[in-house]
Amino acid sequence: MKIGISFDLKPENIPEGFPEDIYEEFDSEKVVDALKKTIEGFGHEVSLLGGGKSFIDKILKERPDFVFNIAEGFGTRSREGHVPSVCEMLSIPYSGSDPLALNITLDKEICKRFAKSLGIKTPFFKVIKNKKEIKNFKFKYSLCVLKLKDEGSSIGLRLSSRVNSLSELKEKAEELFNKYNKPLLVEKFIGGKEITAGIIGNENIKFFGLMEISPKKLKNSEFLYSLEVKRNFKEEVEYIVPPDIPERTQEEIKRAVLKLFKFLGLRDFSRFDFRLDENYNPYFLEINPLPGLNPETSDLPIMAYKMGFKYEEIIKNILESAFERYGIKG
Ligand SMILES: Nc1ncnc2c1ncn2[C@@H]1O[C@H](COP(=O)(O)OP(=O)(O)O)[C@@H](O)[C@H]1O
Ligand SMILES: [Mg+2]
Repeated sequence: MKIGISFDLKPENIPEGFPEDIYEEFDSEKVVDALKKTIEGFGHEVSLLGGGKSFIDKILKERPDFVFNIAEGFGTRSREGHVPSVCEMLSIPYSGSDPLALNITLDKEICKRFAKSLGIKTPFFKVIKNKKEIKNFKFKYSLCVLKLKDEGSSIGLRLSSRVNSLSELKEKAEELFNKYNKPLLVEKFIGGKEITAGIIGNENIKFFGLMEISPKKLKNSEFLYSLEVKRNFKEEVEYIVPPDIPERTQEEIKRAVLKLFKFLGLRDFSRFDFRLDENYNPYFLEINPLPGLNPETSDLPIMAYKMGFKYEEIIKNILESAFERYGIKG
């Protein structure tokens, strides 16, 4: 089968005037190489389609039978839907979730509102849409986290994003608008353990794991899995599988994951982030329907290795999940 890989590569240099973390979601050549070799290893022919406008030229020219999609898109809140939308328009089957699910999950506010409506606990939150709203903004908890509503990969999120007063919050919000000019989500800080859940499959779940992300240098009550921590993860955190948390907490997280996965119509693979309070009650933070697949640094592969899976098995399970949905015999 001819499989195209769609992806966005991190450019070597950040263009003038852009924040230094603006391409944090994008992949390195290492990831694309690893995917290419792995998929070729399954006996397929692989073509590299890239992302953005040139993806359109390439897919029209190459006409692959299937697209393995890890493209994040660029610019708008609907960016993750760009590549899958083109595949749908051309009736080319592709891996991962559809544009609707990808776009809903990218907007952290909308996704939290869905979670709440399904009875899933999520930290109390408010949105600051623009700079003008900062002046009269009130929040009932002084200890909170400020993040960009429609970003991922901890773009705009540093350890200093955990603030402890309204004045600090307003100062930080001002800074974020000056740097990114994008809507902000303010959330109550939940200070217990951090747990991420990974799932591969659909009706037939092939992989379901939980991993604790435990800070090496900070207390949980001071910790954020922020950009500087993610970039320096070997020194900053320890990954614990299975997590050292009560059975009932694990069950509650798994129930929340399955409910959201089904309700939003997520497909093939995803990662879900949670924080626990001091009584081990889980609070849902966000969904990553295109979780990183870097064989060395991404959370989903790290979790899967600790559960005895190899990189090839992770990719095979994602591919097979997608093939099964379409009734494709790989
Ligand atoms: N309300 C919160 N309470 C405690 N920690 C939080 C909260 N929101 C975010 N964090 C921390 O910040 C990290 C990144 O936030 P997240 O919502 O997962 O966004 P991203 O898309 O950038 O990964 C989380 O993994 C967690 O460590
Ligand atoms: Mg996250």
